[in-house]
Amino acid sequence: MYSKFQLAVKYLKYYLTASNGKGHGIHSPFVFDFIKFVLNDAKKYDCYRPIEKLRNNLLQQSALIKVEDFGAGSGVIKTNDRIVKKIAASSLKPKKYAQLLYRMAKYYKPNKIVELGTSFGITTSYLASANNNTAVHSFEGAAAIAAIAQQQFDTLGLQNVHLHKGNFEDTLPAFLKNEKAVDFIFIDGNHRKQPTIEYFNSFIENVNPVILIFDDIHWSAEMEEAWEYIKNHKKINLSIDLFFIGIVCIKKELLVKQHFSIRY
Ligand SMILES: C[S@@+](CC[C@H](N)C(=O)[O-])C[C@H]1O[C@@H](n2cnc3c(N)ncnc32)[C@H](O)[C@@H]1O
Repeated sequence: MYSKFQLAVKYLKYYLTASNGKGHGIHSPFVFDFIKFVLNDAKKYDCYRPIEKLRNNLLQQSALIKVEDFGAGSGVIKTNDRIVKKIAASSLKPKKYAQLLYRMAKYYKPNKIVELGTSFGITTSYLASANNNTAVHSFEGAAAIAAIAQQQFDTLGLQNVHLHKGNFEDTLPAFLKNEKAVDFIFIDGNHRKQPTIEYFNSFIENVNPVILIFDDIHWSAEMEEAWEYIKNHKKINLSIDLFFIGIVCIKKELLVKQHFSIRY
């Protein structure tokens, strides 16, 4: 993991070199639409408030829970006592990005969504709120965390979330065995190079995804290497670097492979 200083330098470089986020000079119609109708859509959608209310409740909970810690390979490394509000403060995607995921799911209308890394279900709730008819399969290994996530889905009345509990190393292959098509994937679990590449490859090989989103692509040298591998993969036609997340697309109509870095 990079130090705060290293990350700040990287962010500054991204900020100075990325496109300005208004679409000027972007010749890809797909990316132009993404900027105009998704990235810069400032509407306050109805689901934002109730989901953020749940996030705020989590940020105030001092309860201790037992949390399994997952390593790069299979098996639980250790179990720790952790405070709910501390997990909420450190693990959940901030609302700016969680709401962007909502708008992406709403705009691109995927048939099936997978999220690796549910935590307390905040991003899951946004993804599931985009369309009641789109199944969201979300994966979480820590039992106590998954139980809290389920409470959030129940509170919001979300019936399209399928929570897969257990280590990704077991639950993901089991899920992929019976799935042929998952078009929208958010990978926010194990932030290490090898597992990230392995998850990417298993999706690419098994379920024909269209959009894949990776969390924290500049968080560490390992994640930057994983991001390089992913965006340069022969099946990827388009990549968008928003610094805190990276998006890649597989679309036949995008004939020329292009990489974009956009300020957000
Ligand atoms: C960063 S959090 C997810 C945050 C969530 N997407 C959000 O923004 O609201 C990552 C979660 O992945 C889980 N996780 C990490 N590695 C795992 C593994 N190998 N198997 C199962 N769960 C894992 C952790 O327990 C943690 O809750």
